[in-house]
Amino acid sequence: MHVNKYERWWMTFGFAMLAVFLGTIGFAAFADNINPPSGLAQIDPTKVAKTPPFDRPGLRRLSDGSYEAYYVAEVFEFTPTTMTVPMGAKVTFFVTSPDVVHGFYIAKTDVNMMVVPGWVNTQTHVFNRRGTYLLICHEYCGIGHQDMFAKIEVR
Ligand code: CUA
Repeated sequence: MHVNKYERWWMTFGFAMLAVFLGTIGFAAFADNINPPSGLAQIDPTKVAKTPPFDRPGLRRLSDGSYEAYYVAEVFEFTPTTMTVPMGAKVTFFVTSPDVVHGFYIAKTDVNMMVVPGWVNTQTHVFNRRGTYLLICHEYCGIGHQDMFAKIEVR
């Protein structure tokens, strides 16, 4: 098969760039030891149901008036399935998974996390509007992925 000289240069250039980009990703991940965004805590994913505070997921009020919300994301549900939060509450979410990677996205907010087994991910949000917020899994996690959601009521 005859390939034009310029065509061959471009193909060589294209494959070379592909190798450079993939190599950069590999180098960044392994040589730099990049991990999922967390930095908070690690947890044994086989013992989530027995590890406080994830043995009793839910909302806790702190002495300074803010809240902490503990969630377990597993195929194919969030625990707790509904949570009621007072209007204006500052809530720090903590979420982990005992099985596979899930997503944790609260619609109409900027709470958007990846839930990785073995890690506790966390993000804080202030709820300044009343209403029902949908919490959805936005990482494909299996055949029941589309049914994985929960609700947060802000009253
Ligand atoms: Cu859990 Cu998708």
